[in-house]
Amino acid sequence: MSLAQSPSKMRFLLYIGLIIAGCNAQQKQERRFPDDFIFGTATASYQIEGGWNADGKGENIWDRMTHTQPHVIKDYSNGDIAADSYNNYKRDVEMMRELGLDAYRFSLSWSRILPNGLSYKINEAGVTFYNNYINEMLKYNITPIVTLYHWDLPQKLQDLGGFINPLFPEWFEDYARVAYENFGDRVKHWITFNEPREICYEGYGWTTKAPLLNATGIGTYYCAKYLLLAHASAYKAYVNDFKATQNGECGITISVNWFGPLTDSADDEYAAELKRQAEWGLYANPIFSEDGSFPKELSEVVAKKSLEQGYKKSRMPELSDEEKKYIRGSSDFFGVNHYTGAYVSAEDNKGNYITPSLLADIDVGSYVPPEWLSSASTWLKLSPNSLYNSLTHLHNKYRNVKFYITENGWSTTPDSGLIDDDRVLYYRTALNTLLDAMEAGVDVKGYMAWSLMDNFEWMEGYKERFGLYHVNFEDPARTRTPRKSAFIYKQILKTRVIDPNYEPATLTMWIDEGH
Ligand SMILES: *[C@@H]1O[C@H](CO)[C@@H](O)[C@H](O)[C@H]1NC(C)=O
Repeated sequence: MSLAQSPSKMRFLLYIGLIIAGCNAQQKQERRFPDDFIFGTATASYQIEGGWNADGKGENIWDRMTHTQPHVIKDYSNGDIAADSYNNYKRDVEMMRELGLDAYRFSLSWSRILPNGLSYKINEAGVTFYNNYINEMLKYNITPIVTLYHWDLPQKLQDLGGFINPLFPEWFEDYARVAYENFGDRVKHWITFNEPREICYEGYGWTTKAPLLNATGIGTYYCAKYLLLAHASAYKAYVNDFKATQNGECGITISVNWFGPLTDSADDEYAAELKRQAEWGLYANPIFSEDGSFPKELSEVVAKKSLEQGYKKSRMPELSDEEKKYIRGSSDFFGVNHYTGAYVSAEDNKGNYITPSLLADIDVGSYVPPEWLSSASTWLKLSPNSLYNSLTHLHNKYRNVKFYITENGWSTTPDSGLIDDDRVLYYRTALNTLLDAMEAGVDVKGYMAWSLMDNFEWMEGYKERFGLYHVNFEDPARTRTPRKSAFIYKQILKTRVIDPNYEPATLTMWIDEGH
């Protein structure tokens, strides 16, 4: 093209330029999830299956706790029947087809497969149940993503100390091998543990999950150590003995809510960092950081306080160099369960701690702005950008990590009906900030909404509902009915675009061609 442009040519170029700019603006509005991005939903065995003693299943710690101490559950309920997926699994898969899911994340009940936890005795009926579930998904091209452990430890292993027993890594590896051997020909995505913080802090260090151990000063830290070794053992078993023939991947899921400083003071920055280390760094650092140790600042405060309290050494156990090497790098991906966020302060809103505990060790305050939208769960608010902040933080901290969002969702009350506009707002907000994070360079491969359907919400019983599908727990058939959010999610999956104005024409579900 000559340098001397005629005026009409100039106008033409300007016109083309405007079209290109216009297209860009439109692309900005219509940001798409890549076609190979995996959309799914997630559930957990104890929360949906029921069949608590069906066909040879052994007792687990949630069976034991809810049967012997029913008062610890808000509505005195339990998961004996739950959504009865043990009998309704075909309907579950039909719902996955209705939504057009690429994948479904669910967990195996350890004691359904190994009734007393150890691998010498396999319950074939349990293996058959999971084979049926998996095969039904595969019939419709739905990819199973399997969590080995979502909180339902066989009671016999708890009687031996559970996660605190140094033999725990061996028990878990043996169980993992049984799962790989029986299902690994068809399951290509494995998650060892769901949410170490909830297992260790809530179950061992406090009383908000089974087994209510309340070993406040030490439970969290000892559990963390053996959980990490167990995770690494199961990962290495997969890599060494199964990966070459089965061609899958194995990782871990950690709960990562966002904790930023209340002010930009150095003290608040430090407080927020301590909080992040106590919440997820304790579990993520040994696996994903380059030095493979427990987080530095947290280790320092626990060691210092332990000595002040008269302990001979830190209440946080050491990881030897050999253990660090064993755990470091033991994950093909980082599964993130994300729900909410809070601001952290070095001075304001602090608790009054008398006995040693994780919270007393970090001794920081937290602040949630009152204007953030509230769900039916006290801990769950719509915290703007918390998913974006979490992902970009982890991406910058741990290099070259691939992420899946393995849970994200919103709770409503049991009587809130099928029009769940709050949940719709939450999902649209979260998915938009997920796209922001992906545009900022974070490698996210998939997203699992929590949850496919209403289920037993742990200590809250059936009082908090997280389902895209409502479940009628009064009805012996446990009838499932799609909420408005199910139709919104379906539309996002189909178009790969978040249309803020899309409204379903009816609340009658259908299955698209090909599903
Ligand atoms: C847990 O332990 C703490 C500290 O020892 C104690 O204050 C609290 O009452 C215990 N909680 C329960 C439910 O036993």
